[in-house]
Amino acid sequence: MLERGAELTSLDRLLADAERAAGRVALIEGPPGIGKTRLLREVARRARDRGLGVLTARGSELERSFPYGIVHQLLDPVVRSGAPDDREDLMAGAAALAQPVFEPWPTAEAPGDPSFAILHGLYWLLANLAERGPLFIAIDDAQWSDRPSGRLLEFLAPRLEGMPIALAVASRDTGNVAEPDALSALARAPLQRIKLRPLSTAAVGGLVAARLGEQAGETLASACATATGGNPFLIHELLNDLARQQRATDDIDPATVERLGPREVAAAALARVGGLSGAPALTRALAVLGEDADLTAAAALAELDPGEASATADGLADAMILEAGRPLRSRTRSCAQRSTTRSRRGHEAIYTPERRSFERVAEPSRMP
Ligand SMILES: Nc1ncnc2c1ncn2[C@@H]1O[C@H](COP(=O)(O)OP(=O)(O)OP(=O)(O)O)[C@@H](O)[C@H]1O
Ligand SMILES: [Mg+2]
Repeated sequence: MLERGAELTSLDRLLADAERAAGRVALIEGPPGIGKTRLLREVARRARDRGLGVLTARGSELERSFPYGIVHQLLDPVVRSGAPDDREDLMAGAAALAQPVFEPWPTAEAPGDPSFAILHGLYWLLANLAERGPLFIAIDDAQWSDRPSGRLLEFLAPRLEGMPIALAVASRDTGNVAEPDALSALARAPLQRIKLRPLSTAAVGGLVAARLGEQAGETLASACATATGGNPFLIHELLNDLARQQRATDDIDPATVERLGPREVAAAALARVGGLSGAPALTRALAVLGEDADLTAAAALAELDPGEASATADGLADAMILEAGRPLRSRTRSCAQRSTTRSRRGHEAIYTPERRSFERVAEPSRMP
């Protein structure tokens, strides 16, 4: 993992603080593909090495309407796995208030905000667990947290001081999200913000050399950095593409690579994973034709038949690279309006702060 030394140092400190019962929260933020999951996994590994108990969970777009989804991921393994005595211990005292959450057929809670009693109970359940040893709680993709779990995070944040619990929450940038979400309250709580930056040209150069060989020169490396904006996910995608072409490195024209933007790299990834084989050609045609391009003209330039071009344009709209409808238009509205994601075909749209859209296609693997 490149260029995350400072972040790891401060997350190591978060773990050390938990060990001395000075619990607190770190919020790891950044656009899709910037490396939030990778960083969180590394911290979880370090926490295990230090002997902390590690609880992990991950928000998912499909499960965000499932109340306590994240709480269940975190706590079911401990609540359900132990011996009955063990469970009794965990549920002792005020933690018993959380019992309804773990009933096989929860009835006590209406959807919406959890009661104070439940939050209080869950807090005590975690406190009972932390009595056994310091804990690291890692929550990934928290932008898709279900609401009651989001409320628990918000409830916990100001109450961790004095507890041996480190909480790290990773979320896609929430800055301009218009709709109220489970995280907006957490973001106002006392926490340490860790904003992940794109990789430097030097780091991209290292990845290029590792993948394509040392003979790949600096010009190609800086072209790759430009084409991907230093986004590690897009760098890997671009390098996969270049490696797949099996061309000698001096045969790869840096100027051509540089002319690709994150949108084009993303469209290529989409073509591979989403079966939209015409996506790269259509995206390139639009780069030439400019905004409000006519579908027929774009199809002709992309050498696609009109039916395929139309289906591809719809797929790119689903992936939020293009606007829906005709004429063809890149999505250039504000981040706030573009924050919605669509799960159709499993694609998730992503946007850089520089108002360029690109696509995060691969379903990220679960946290360990
Ligand atoms: N610092 C880094 N150095 C090298 N490769 C990295 C780095 N960070 C992430 N990567 C790689 O980039 C890819 C994307 O990273 P990751 O899945 O962690 O992004 P993410 O921020 O979690 O994205 P998403 O918001 O879509 O979940 C992965 O293949 C990961 O291994
Ligand atoms: Mg991730």
